[in-house]
Amino acid sequence: MHLNELETTENLKEVEEAWLTLEKSILYYQGRPVGTVAAYDASVEALNYDQCFVRDFVSSALIFLIKGRTDIVRNFLEETLKLQPKEKALDAYKPGRGLIPASFKVVSENGQEYLEADFGEHAIARVTPVDSCLWWIILLRAYVVATEDFSLAYQPEFQNGIRLIMEICLANRFDMYPTLLVPDGACMIDRRLGIYGHPLELQVLFYTALRASRELLVCQGNSDIVAAIDNRLPLLCAHIRQHYWIDINRLNEIYRFKSEEYGKGAVNLFNIYVDSVPYYELDKWLPKKGGYLAGNVGPSQLDTRFFSLGNLMAIISDLATEEQAQAIMTLIEDRWDDLVGDMPMKICFPALEHEEYRIVTGCDPKNIPWSYHNAGSWPVLMWMLAAAAVKTNKISLAQKAIQTAQGRLSTDQWPEYYDGKKGRLIGKQARKYQTWTITGFLLAKELMANPTYLPLISFGKLPAEQVSRACEFEIASVDPYMPR
Ligand code: GLC
Repeated sequence: MHLNELETTENLKEVEEAWLTLEKSILYYQGRPVGTVAAYDASVEALNYDQCFVRDFVSSALIFLIKGRTDIVRNFLEETLKLQPKEKALDAYKPGRGLIPASFKVVSENGQEYLEADFGEHAIARVTPVDSCLWWIILLRAYVVATEDFSLAYQPEFQNGIRLIMEICLANRFDMYPTLLVPDGACMIDRRLGIYGHPLELQVLFYTALRASRELLVCQGNSDIVAAIDNRLPLLCAHIRQHYWIDINRLNEIYRFKSEEYGKGAVNLFNIYVDSVPYYELDKWLPKKGGYLAGNVGPSQLDTRFFSLGNLMAIISDLATEEQAQAIMTLIEDRWDDLVGDMPMKICFPALEHEEYRIVTGCDPKNIPWSYHNAGSWPVLMWMLAAAAVKTNKISLAQKAIQTAQGRLSTDQWPEYYDGKKGRLIGKQARKYQTWTITGFLLAKELMANPTYLPLISFGKLPAEQVSRACEFEIASVDPYMPR
């Protein structure tokens, strides 16, 4: 059945309300639209929800690009670029050169307006927004795809902006993996949740931003960065496809891993100890054909939680192989009750509970089990689910997700998130009229109605020979992991 045939008058009213609310969320600066506020909820103290968050604006921006309102996206890209520090920070408490803020707000003083950026220094947990600079590049490339106009990205300020971001991402560091080493809570999950190190959420955005930068950087004057990207991309891609992948076959291999191996012949490359992996749970939970990318891989660490943004964006950006993409969607289908339930979709699964919750979150009352980031349900993820479904030709899954959310979102006043194992409780501290809840829903519908918009955010696979060469390198543990 086509989605349009399912549209009732009630549903159409809901969509109309969503558009009106989105319009109200637009933030103006010196008379120009420059973004959207996180939430338009007058019933509670605004805290920082009256600001424009870079990550939240992505779904608004994609909708605006689809609807031809490219000016807002262009203004947003120009203004946020001006907020990027261009010089090395002399004070260690200041944001590093190249970072893009988590959010910004319009401040008026003596009749003058200016933008004030927040790099996490005002945020509740003082978290560094690593994802902002990655999303910024991904969005710039989406703008170029939508407008077919490279001139913005080719401007010297933009080339410099991309270059500075790449410089922080590709800098010399202590780590010897192709993945990005990041602190906890540096993305959509912006509180402590045990995702420091090499969390999937950021690795996938890193990969996507590298792909986007490779398309946008003009080689002249940037040849060192372009070479570094070309070097990193296949290694990163192979590393994630190989070491993050979990399905029943891989679980069997890991289950019989030896530990404490030394030297070049080691198979258990991260020295994972069997007892740290919840084998018996996974043995029950993993479907015969499904699989997914693990939440985090590092020294003696394999975080087997399922993280939705990472898995879905890996499909959308073509980081996952075709077989992996199909297997992830099979897993989502077979474990629908756990991952989607009554509200698409869980940010991660399962929740951290009991002692683990207390130790890993630091007893965070907002992240109690099955709430907020700790396995709460976030409607914004619906657009990524729809895009991944379109990409893998599993349209019926996206239809089912949209039907599940439809009707409920407007009745519940577009909450930021839902709680509970099945997502049936409106989030304990959820804002209402949350912009990315609205745009997540609208964008899912747009992508279903018109899959030709998918290239805004997808890339096509890296040439297979490059990736397999990287795999060989990796197995032989030679050069590419050595410091450059
Ligand atoms: C919360 C979310 C974060 C989001 C922000 C604004 O802090 O954890 O991902 O960007 O709210 O909506």
